Formats: sequence, C-alpha cells, structure tokens
Amino acid sequence: MSTRQIQSEVAEVSPRFLEKIAHLRERVNALLLQAVAKSDPVTLYEPMRYIFEAGGKRLRPVLLLLSCEAAGGKMDHALNAAAAVELLHTFTLIHDDVMDQDDTRRGRPTVHTKWDVSVAILSGDGLVALSYDYLLRTPSEESARLGKLFSQALLEVCEGQALDKEFESRWDVTVEEYFTMISKKTATLMGLCGELGGIIGGADEKVVRALRNFGYHVGVSFQIQDDLLDILADEKELGKTWGSDIVRKKKTLLLIHALENASAEDRRVLEGILAKPEVTREDVLRVKEIFERSRTIEEAEALLLDHFRQAEEELRQLSSLQTGDLRSFLGLVLHRHS
Ligand code: IPE
Ligand code: IPE
Ligand code: MG
Ligand code: MG
Ligand code: MG
Repeated sequence: MSTRQIQSEVAEVSPRFLEKIAHLRERVNALLLQAVAKSDPVTLYEPMRYIFEAGGKRLRPVLLLLSCEAAGGKMDHALNAAAAVELLHTFTLIHDDVMDQDDTRRGRPTVHTKWDVSVAILSGDGLVALSYDYLLRTPSEESARLGKLFSQALLEVCEGQALDKEFESRWDVTVEEYFTMISKKTATLMGLCGELGGIIGGADEKVVRALRNFGYHVGVSFQIQDDLLDILADEKELGKTWGSDIVRKKKTLLLIHALENASAEDRRVLEGILAKPEVTREDVLRVKEIFERSRTIEEAEALLLDHFRQAEEELRQLSSLQTGDLRSFLGLVLHRHS
C-alpha cells in the first residue's frame, strides 16, 4: 500500500539497498532454519519450520543489523541477536493469530488452523526459549543488559496484546489509549532492535538512545500502516485475513477516528455493525466506505507520517554516523504491500 501521501513523502528504495537486504535476510534465514532443525517431537518443531518457510519480511532482524552497522559495529556480531528478535516476533504472530482467530498468515493457514491451539501455544512457547538461546550467543560483555532489555520488551508486548484484547469489548477507547497499546504491542520491539543493534555495535549511550527511538517511531508508523492494510491491501498480497480488525471489533486508529468523526447517520450504521454478534464481509465493505467518507484514511496517514518524520529526526541526531541504510529502511517499511 503506497497511498498518495506516503508516495509523495517517502523515498523509494534503491536496487542496491534491496540487494543488501536480500543478502541479510538469507543470512538470518540460515540461522532460523538451524534453530528449528530438530525433528522430534514433530508437533513442536514442524510448525516452527512451517511458519519460517512461509516467508515474512524479516524487518526486525534487518533493522537490528543495520543499526549495528550504523553504530560502527560488525554485523557478524549481531547475527544471533537478529535471529533472536525474529524468533520472538514469530512467537507473537502464532499466539496473536489464536487471539485474533485468524486463519491466514504469510499466505498459509495459521498454525492453530493447520494443527490446533495446543500446537500453536507450544510451538510459540518453544520459540521464546529459542529466542533467548540465540540472544545469549551474542559475543558481548553486556549480555546481562541485553537479556534484561529483551525481557522488558517481551513483557511490554504482552501488555500491549492484553490492551488490544480488552479494547475489543470497549466503545470508548481514545486515540491516546490506542497509541499506548500499539507502542507496547509493536513499537517497543522495533525500538529494541535499534537498541540491541547499537549496543552490540559498541555505540555510546546517546547513539543507542537515538537508534532505539528511531526503531520506536518506525514501529508506530508500521502499526498504523498495518491497520490501514487490513482493509486497503489486496488480500492475496497481504497474506493475512482481510478485514479481520473490523470483524474482531479492534479499536484501530481508523475505527476510533470514524466513531468520533463520522456523520450521525454513519455513526449509527457503525455502531449497529459493532453490536452484531457476527460481522460479515459486506459489513466490512460498508465500514470501509464510512472510513472513506469520514476522511479517516487521510487522518491515519497524517499520523503515520508524523511518526515517520520523528524517525527521520532521530536519524538527523546521528549525523556523525552513516545512516543512509536506516533511511532506506524507512522507505522499505512504508512502501510495503503486506
Ligand atoms: C505483523 O508483523 C505483526 C505486526 C506487528 C503488525 P510483520 O508485518 O512484520 O509480519 P511478517 O514477519 O512480515 O510476516
Ligand atoms: C499484532 O497486531 C501485534 C503483535 C504483537 C503480533 P495485529 O494483530 O494487528 O497483527 P496482524 O495484523 O495480525 O499481523
Ligand atoms: Mg492479528
Ligand atoms: Mg492482534
Ligand atoms: Mg493487523
């Protein structure tokens, strides 16, 4: 999804950068496949391989590696930590799909639909254990610090996911509460990637903080975009269940804005749909029209771009470093279709 506003403000990425990213993904993938190579018990390890082989953008490990490099470190030293953040992220996806009752992920049936909920719980739990295993392989004098930051981020993701679930049954969620929720469920982990990359790269505290803030603001824009993609993306390209947020009554920025700003008539329709026990595909299309009429899409994009600019501002703080690739990373994230 590259809507006009994003198209005009965010630079496209160069083929050279795409090649570099493809190479980094390959290196991370090799480690991930090694992490889940065991075959027995089959219902523990097969779903892990299944979800990695299905694809995924590997944005978090790439961000960690680029942050390490920008900090002046060797990417080789950060590879285990890069695998660790992807292992952790993948755990969140498997459990998130159970919570959101979604049946498609990375273009394939979700783990709990292909197997069952027990398999999803266990393979997710196993990925958390593996993520710590890989993190602690990092050659660093600061491994206790890395472990602490990693645990804090994991707990924040859980807090964010708890808020996300609590908000499903509330109608009065504010934009401020929404930002707290997405900061925790999504932006913190991206911030962690910048932070770990900086620490492993040997950066000083000021640089580590700027890298963390950069990742954080990328993460906020990324989640707003994820909410937009839920209804604007092409379903095949998205690889996830289209319109799921509306079916599950998620208090996305879009829904909150529409509830506050739609015409009285549209608001009545929206509330009627939210009160239904089962939301249909036709309902989702009606909600999408209401979003369009109430200028909700434009408003969400404006807030997304606000965080994009804050991410850019953090890079300006790092003017003594080579930040070109981190700038390109922003373009990579915001021009995505899935
Ligand atoms: C999806 O993350 C979960 C969110 C935080 C919105 P990604 O869009 O990075 O998922 P993959 O790893 O590429 O499948
Ligand atoms: C999930 O947010 C964030 C996670 C911590 C996994 P979503 O529920 O919107 O993610 P998708 O759209 O299912 O990937
Ligand atoms: Mg979900
Ligand atoms: Mg969710
Ligand atoms: Mg989503």
